[in-house]
Amino acid sequence: MLQRPRRNRKSEVIRQMVQETHVSAANLIFPLFIIDGKNQKTEVSSMPGIFRYSVDNLLREVESCIKLGLKTFDLFPNIDEALKDTFATESYREESLYLRAIREVKKEFPEACVITDVAMDPYSSDGHDGIVDNGEILNDATLEVLGKMALAHARAGADIIAPSDMMDGRVGFIRQVLDEHGYSGVSIMSYSAKYASAFYGPFRDALNSAPKFGDKKTYQMNPANQREALIEANLDEQEGADFLMVKPALPYLDVIKLLKDNTELPIAAYNVSGEYAMIKAAIQKGWLNEQRAITEVLTSIRRAGATAILTYHAKEVLENKWL
Ligand code: PBG
Repeated sequence: MLQRPRRNRKSEVIRQMVQETHVSAANLIFPLFIIDGKNQKTEVSSMPGIFRYSVDNLLREVESCIKLGLKTFDLFPNIDEALKDTFATESYREESLYLRAIREVKKEFPEACVITDVAMDPYSSDGHDGIVDNGEILNDATLEVLGKMALAHARAGADIIAPSDMMDGRVGFIRQVLDEHGYSGVSIMSYSAKYASAFYGPFRDALNSAPKFGDKKTYQMNPANQREALIEANLDEQEGADFLMVKPALPYLDVIKLLKDNTELPIAAYNVSGEYAMIKAAIQKGWLNEQRAITEVLTSIRRAGATAILTYHAKEVLENKWL
């Protein structure tokens, strides 16, 4: 035999020398859930180890992450049911929980990179990402709300705006609103290929944001489709996105690879709540080795082509020095 591939696996030193993919703190984005009140920290029952923080505790959490080298955060609010309405007006109210949280984090930690989520669902009395009219999700009317929300986030200090709603034309619309108001330096990370997935269940528990009727299939993509992701990705690129995102991550590694091969923009992948819950449940049952399962998941997502990974594992992998 002239070729014996095992020679390149014979020692730890050689294995490390030929390792093709690495994950580091710089690649990780930590999603954080926010709730109203003071000194609150409540665990999400379907996401062991993940909490909703009131703003004071959020600041402490951000601080402890920064000490570990984790500096990018994606914030999501849990909104009081009484504040929700058809038009998600709470989403751009100056003194809202979310805008306060962004301002506070940027004030205390200017070096942190804050990503904000633009979508109506946490603030919508219908639990949908768009304005509902007679059971239908209106596209163009929703863009107006998304524009106001994005502008409010930029004013509060967001570094990157991440529209997760899947309305047509929203990246271009938001880009124009930001530019017209002097925020041409604020980036857009677009949820380009966001699928109508079963794996968002725990997230909707965390935020109490599940749709009040129907599902999200008229705007989120059909899990059976791959080529359609290219249509979305090309549009987002033309409309001015700085990052393209694929979501969920693990069941869609082929889509990550496809986008990677078809754009020069950096790709982000969202290792979503259900993926986290699945791994944690198996670990709690003693069915998987925690460190190996988690690092393998993150490495696979990077190997498929993701530059950045949004993951609920971000802090624990650094705390435990697993990378
Ligand atoms: C809502 C949004 C969702 C997630 C991020 N933004 C859920 C949904 O579309 O219903 C899911 C994230 C996760 O599951 O971790 N715009």
